[in-house]
Amino acid sequence: MDEVESVENEDRLRPQRLADYIGQKDLKEVLNIAIAAAKTRKESLDHLLLYGPPGLGKTTMSLILATEMGVNCKITAAPALERPRDITGILIGLKPGDILFIDEIHRLNRMTEELLYPAMEDSRLDITVGKGQSAKTRSIPLPPFTLVGATTKVGSLTSPLRDRFGLIQRLRFYELDELTLIVQRTANLLKVEVTQEGAEEIARRARGTPRIANRLLRRVRDYAQVKSIASIDRELAGTALDLFNVDAMGLDWTDRLVLSTAIEQFKGGPVGLEAIAAATGEDSRTIEDVYEPYLLQIGFINRTPRGRVVTEAAYKHLGFFPFG
Ligand code: ADE
Repeated sequence: MDEVESVENEDRLRPQRLADYIGQKDLKEVLNIAIAAAKTRKESLDHLLLYGPPGLGKTTMSLILATEMGVNCKITAAPALERPRDITGILIGLKPGDILFIDEIHRLNRMTEELLYPAMEDSRLDITVGKGQSAKTRSIPLPPFTLVGATTKVGSLTSPLRDRFGLIQRLRFYELDELTLIVQRTANLLKVEVTQEGAEEIARRARGTPRIANRLLRRVRDYAQVKSIASIDRELAGTALDLFNVDAMGLDWTDRLVLSTAIEQFKGGPVGLEAIAAATGEDSRTIEDVYEPYLLQIGFINRTPRGRVVTEAAYKHLGFFPFG
């Protein structure tokens, strides 16, 4: 499947309204209030920082906010904002109340970040014209807008940037019942038949993450189609996902490699992230941002000041005996 098709598919599955968004109860409540207040005052929404592991719905939430406020949402990511003119071009093109979504906002370079400060605070763009002694700063007024920043690493944001967000909200891993509803909702949109238990089996292996749940559903749908099976039940979902190397806890090949490397080569830790990365050939940032959060969440690893430690539960799950 090419990237364009997969992105289009993902867009088609996103909920459009806050009421259709499953899970993240606290976040929805906070945003419902912010939306109602902003609408009453006929103002733009406060700047919002969303943080948490990837795939939990940060972009989706930003698009929903735009729909609820009746404005446009411009989506970009920090690595696409390399030159000052990248961000100035976007800011100048915004209409009153528009939402600007910046993914991976912890990766902004300093110049871009400093252009954002007056924009966020005073709806003003300060640009320098000319060079050396004749350089002058010109201020261009901007329409009021809302910056929605998304990050997996809230600790890596500079404090001046973090302080300019009126709302700072964390997205949590989803509960099993929420993910089951998401699988059922997506199955409906894809016109795939799935039983309650089938949906639950897919949800159980989705690492608390809707993006993964929807991806697994597609893989199981392919399997059912090729085997000419009309409805996805628990057994079929389990068999298909085993085949695709997604185990009963939702761990994939890389998760298991990270854990077994820490156990076999480092006696289960404490071991540093870089050492695990070098031994597995995985990028340390990918391990930290994508794999580790869920392994921490399910209690398969602990973080200590001296490094990562694999827990007894992980030893058992992987079939390593005796523990330690
Ligand atoms: N699809 C992906 N994430 C979702 C969510 N949180 N609610 C409803 N549908 C979704």
